[in-house]
Amino acid sequence: MDEKEIPKNLERDDEEYVSLISSLPSDIDFVGRELFKYQESWYGNKMLQAIINFQRGFEPQDTDIIIASFPKAGTTWLKALTVALLERSKHSSDAHPLRLDNPHNLVPFFELDLYAKSSKPDMTNFSSTPRVFATHVPLHTLQEALKNSSCKIVYVWRNVKDVLVSYWYFKSALMKVEAERSLLESMFESFCRGVSYGGPFWEHVLSYWRGSLEESQNVLFLKYEDLKTEPRVQLKRLAEFLDCPFTVEEEENGSVEEILELCSLRNLKNLEINKIGITSRGVDHKNFFRKGEVGDSKNYLTPEMEKRIDMITEDKFGGSGLKL
Ligand code: A3P
Repeated sequence: MDEKEIPKNLERDDEEYVSLISSLPSDIDFVGRELFKYQESWYGNKMLQAIINFQRGFEPQDTDIIIASFPKAGTTWLKALTVALLERSKHSSDAHPLRLDNPHNLVPFFELDLYAKSSKPDMTNFSSTPRVFATHVPLHTLQEALKNSSCKIVYVWRNVKDVLVSYWYFKSALMKVEAERSLLESMFESFCRGVSYGGPFWEHVLSYWRGSLEESQNVLFLKYEDLKTEPRVQLKRLAEFLDCPFTVEEEENGSVEEILELCSLRNLKNLEINKIGITSRGVDHKNFFRKGEVGDSKNYLTPEMEKRIDMITEDKFGGSGLKL
């Protein structure tokens, strides 16, 4: 495409879009919604349009930071930690952006927020660098939008069983219903088949895992469980990767602990803004904060469910070098 040409926003009735979507495999997810398989992952119609808008219209800058994850793998936490790292020493504690807004409003998703309606969104809020964005798409789909720029990508992943249970609670909260077992069971089936937003989970994780091995300067691969067990180590890894390592003085002054405390689930959950606020997409902020426990899925999945999903995980991750 000519550099000056403005990318076209594909509308649902656009011939080009209709032709693309009709060429894609489709399936039905756990709530009976039609999903389309695009670049090996599943998306609803609107999401797919947004991803195409993003791939066509995004103009990357080498200083951009992108937070990537499968939904419910720890995105909110990673967004908060990244903002806190980059913003440290800029604000008095009361005026800190994380005390005034939810991490999802501070770090928008490409496909859920910015490119949901247009391939040329308003970027005036991103006048200072580095710009920080987020996405739930796998690495190969993201890379198409990054067009060989050297943005930094930070990926967080989490045990699939906890992701599933977290997703179940989140979905139920969005639908404003109690978390019913029947929904968990149908979500489980969809997950195992890989037919859920951004799924299959395993291929999603593997795309970033391989990317982190091939391009370690550009892709950092973090695990939710490691962030829980050794938060200091992981936060320092993140800071170094983002080229803003802690100085000796900062370490001595407790800056690492301050950030961890600011971004802790307990602290964020109890902030007024996260008790009452709503994201620009209409999601109650409080829905992003639940228990944050490792292994919570044990309380909900039957031994048979665990066995089945463990077998899929062993099969898919076997030989990848990925440590569970
Ligand atoms: P649970 O449902 O297991 O509690 P995402 O941010 O990707 O949507 O993932 C949501 C999960 O991360 C939820 O897990 C939520 O409680 C947990 N979470 C949110 N903020 C967190 C934080 N600051 N620290 C640890 N976990 C957090």
